[in-house]
Amino acid sequence: MFRRKEKYEIKTFDEFLKMRRAGLVVADTLQRISVEAIPGVTTKDLDRIAREELIKFNATPSFLGYYGYPAVICTSVNDEVVHAIPNERALVDGDIVSVDFGAIVDGWHGDSAITIEIGTKIPAQSKLSSVTKAAMWAGVGKAVAGNHLSDISNAVEKIIRTSGDYGILEEYTGHGIGTKMHMEPSIPNFGAPGNGPKLVVGMALAIEPMVTLGTKEVHTLSDNWTVVTDDGTTASHWEHTVAITEDGPWVLTAHDGGAQYFKENGISSPAERL
Ligand code: MF3
Ligand code: CO
Repeated sequence: MFRRKEKYEIKTFDEFLKMRRAGLVVADTLQRISVEAIPGVTTKDLDRIAREELIKFNATPSFLGYYGYPAVICTSVNDEVVHAIPNERALVDGDIVSVDFGAIVDGWHGDSAITIEIGTKIPAQSKLSSVTKAAMWAGVGKAVAGNHLSDISNAVEKIIRTSGDYGILEEYTGHGIGTKMHMEPSIPNFGAPGNGPKLVVGMALAIEPMVTLGTKEVHTLSDNWTVVTDDGTTASHWEHTVAITEDGPWVLTAHDGGAQYFKENGISSPAERL
């Protein structure tokens, strides 16, 4: 008998520490962008901020050149869901913009996205963003060895379905991550629990619900990147990279490693110590 080749990249703890360095570059950069994204600022200005941070930290971008992608972040405004290319568009009061960023340190990737409300908060958009974020965290909390992959999907979906009438994208998913940005397995944001591979220590996953105020149907614009909702409704995207450790999930792209969320939800995690 030949041993089946491992399907998923399994990291050592030392490799998780390298991914943590990439994760913190991403966390710092998104934090800075969330402060600087105000009315009048263009999405290209935000890309420039991310480029500055990459230089400061001596990190390289995950996105630039990926299938020819021309920027280091994605800036998806309003009905744009994901993968919108930064441009001269100035953000205006009432916009919401999802900023997605990936960085490489020492060959290891970190990938995260946040949704930012520009100026005046609009209640339906605020709720959309907080539901999407809560769904991401619920998924992160299931990134525990022994669980099945679809336990993550189910936890994400459950939060969204019980919060209102939202659209959950089906054509785009979360993914494994490590020495490449996109690796097996892909992680749908919906589905019954208890299916798919068993999660094991050493896996790293990017969990990223993409949610709309209307339809789940989307299409890509003629720039071949920007994904927009078919019905023009607003969308939100939140993403974290999480490591599955012996002691529970460790959110590599969160400054606190996820400590606050795990504490509030009674989930054991090494985040407090690391
Ligand atoms: N971060 C995105 C994801 O989560 C990927 C961006 S695609 C790129 O899958 F082309 F912009 F790199
Ligand atoms: Co991703």
